[in-house]
Amino acid sequence: MPETSPRGLARLAFGGDYNPEQWPETVWQDDVRLMREAGVTMVSVGIFSWALLEPAPGEYDFGWLDRVLGLLHENGIRVDLGTPTVVPPVWFYRDHPEALPVTAEGVRHEFGSRGAICHSNADYRAAAANITTRLAERYADHPALAMWHVHNEYGVPVSACYCDSCAAHFRRWLATTYGTVDVVNAAWGTAFWGQRYASFEDVNPPRATPTVGNPGQALDYKRFADATMRENFCAERDILHRLAPGVPVTTNFMTALSQCDSVDYWAWGREVDIVTNDHYLITDGRRTHVNLAMAADLTRSVGAGAPWILLEHSTSGINWQPRNPAKAPGQMARNSLAHVARGSEGAMFFQWRQSRRGAEKFHSAMVPHGGTDTRVWREVVELGASLDSLAALRGTRTEADVAVLWDWHSWWAQNLAWRPSEDADARERADAFYEALYDRHLTVDFAHPETDLSAYPLVVAPALYLMTEAAADNLRAYVENGGTLVVSYFSGIVDEHDAVHEGACPGALRDVLGLTVEEFSPLLQGESVRLTGPDGCGLGGDVWTEFVVPRGAETVWTYVDGLAAGHPAVTRHRLGEGAAWYVSTRLGQEGLDALLARAAQDAGIAPRADLPRDVEVVRRSGGTGSYLFAINHTAVDAKVPLETSGTELLTGERAAGRLAVPAGAVRVVRLDG
Ligand code: GAL
Repeated sequence: MPETSPRGLARLAFGGDYNPEQWPETVWQDDVRLMREAGVTMVSVGIFSWALLEPAPGEYDFGWLDRVLGLLHENGIRVDLGTPTVVPPVWFYRDHPEALPVTAEGVRHEFGSRGAICHSNADYRAAAANITTRLAERYADHPALAMWHVHNEYGVPVSACYCDSCAAHFRRWLATTYGTVDVVNAAWGTAFWGQRYASFEDVNPPRATPTVGNPGQALDYKRFADATMRENFCAERDILHRLAPGVPVTTNFMTALSQCDSVDYWAWGREVDIVTNDHYLITDGRRTHVNLAMAADLTRSVGAGAPWILLEHSTSGINWQPRNPAKAPGQMARNSLAHVARGSEGAMFFQWRQSRRGAEKFHSAMVPHGGTDTRVWREVVELGASLDSLAALRGTRTEADVAVLWDWHSWWAQNLAWRPSEDADARERADAFYEALYDRHLTVDFAHPETDLSAYPLVVAPALYLMTEAAADNLRAYVENGGTLVVSYFSGIVDEHDAVHEGACPGALRDVLGLTVEEFSPLLQGESVRLTGPDGCGLGGDVWTEFVVPRGAETVWTYVDGLAAGHPAVTRHRLGEGAAWYVSTRLGQEGLDALLARAAQDAGIAPRADLPRDVEVVRRSGGTGSYLFAINHTAVDAKVPLETSGTELLTGERAAGRLAVPAGAVRVVRLDG
């Protein structure tokens, strides 16, 4: 059995992507000296090094990597060793130009960046297996090796290829999945617009068409592309497992990045030995620490709650957004430790030393262009010391209060063309509900809708347009057995093939919610509606309304105006021992808070009025005890009540009663007892 934490790493992971090949060897000595000064415990090496390791077909140069690994080992630094299969060398493409991916419009990408890969291509697969084998044979027993880092961020920058070899592979995938082409015809509803297929040979990827193509085909192509990338990951993983038994294998995820919507991380989480994630602050005007918390919670959840590792984040600004602000003083530590609070066994960065050349030279790093007489470096050294003092919490698990349902397949389906409104954005609702739960100081586990939910008093489904019968049965049983469920609009509409469930909407959830929806009535941009009810006066909705007809549910809030005036906007249905809430419009944060307050009351979750907004409090517990993280994202000092006394690990001070958390600071208390 492979291990599930980095081999030989007795501390939290602290370090980053280390790209020594970008620097003369004289710099390497300085690198390891500074790594020791900062308390670096692990670095990721060789992720983009294929062209250096195999400069010509079948010719290898491992000398430089031997020297790097040796130097790191001598200095007590563990290595997360990359398989460089995200960037095949130029000679590979010269010999196999058809391995370059093709867009839906038929344009073939060129060499000269990274990630230009057709994952169905047999020559790519063979070459990737070969370099992986060579690396594993050479380094399996290397004393510095802590874990393997396969590829880099599957799914970006190319999420699917539409070439002829993908077409052939897609047909094989369809034959395996469906058996006969008639089953495909039925699943995709090809009777519509005369799209019927007589044989698998006629089926192609969903390439550019004059107008909207078949949604079932498009949805299945997402599944196929995801499965194809996973085949390649598993092939490399199996080689590594065979040649380096026990050494854990990972690939770095990007769980909460909306641009990376092509990977079903529930499935990937089952294939890796350790879940790892990359997270960067998206500066679109929203509270970045909320998105960070969400990413960390989602990462922990796809690994079934087990400890995971933050493999990349940034010390300061990144360089791939239109505008890339620097991090404020102290923000890096708040970011890093928030990931640790939510289950990460460390904090690693892209990258160790800031590049002078190439596409990422304006991306921050642990060692900036300005060297060590810089704020970033001083904060890096400080963070290293902080992480060192937290080593005891390794293996503990983050405690969650509620579950939020999340399903990439539903998201893929909802994002297909020609829906009632393009403003009904699944990801937007997930973010909004998460933010409302965060502001109520509730820690979230994400859950697949078909998994056991009985541990959670409250389950929220912000957007589950696609819902299987199994998921609907699961939610019904959850409520009947005493759970409280909150469902937002346009959920439970279609099955796994994007076919509308039979009967009135929402077909999968009618009986759970105790209502039917006669019509969707999306609003135009800028339009909004007012709601009334016990505490709903003054609240409003936008984007979406519906003609809801209660069939057992009680009306809580009602539409005052708009086409749905007089219809229920928010309902509550008692079912068995539990209750199911439904909201049929897009509520803002105030409305979501009012809704969640009532649902939390049903669920028996007490409000946390004792905690200020943006003071994040999260607990990890397990073998070595219970740890309370308090992260003050505000500019004013705060106090956090402690249930028991304890020792604050970053300052070494005793803590009891009300813990002082200075503006912008982090405190981690190991609770007594
Ligand atoms: C990640 C990637 C790194 C680096 C980083 C910059 O997505 O894995 O190699 O490009 O972004 O933010």
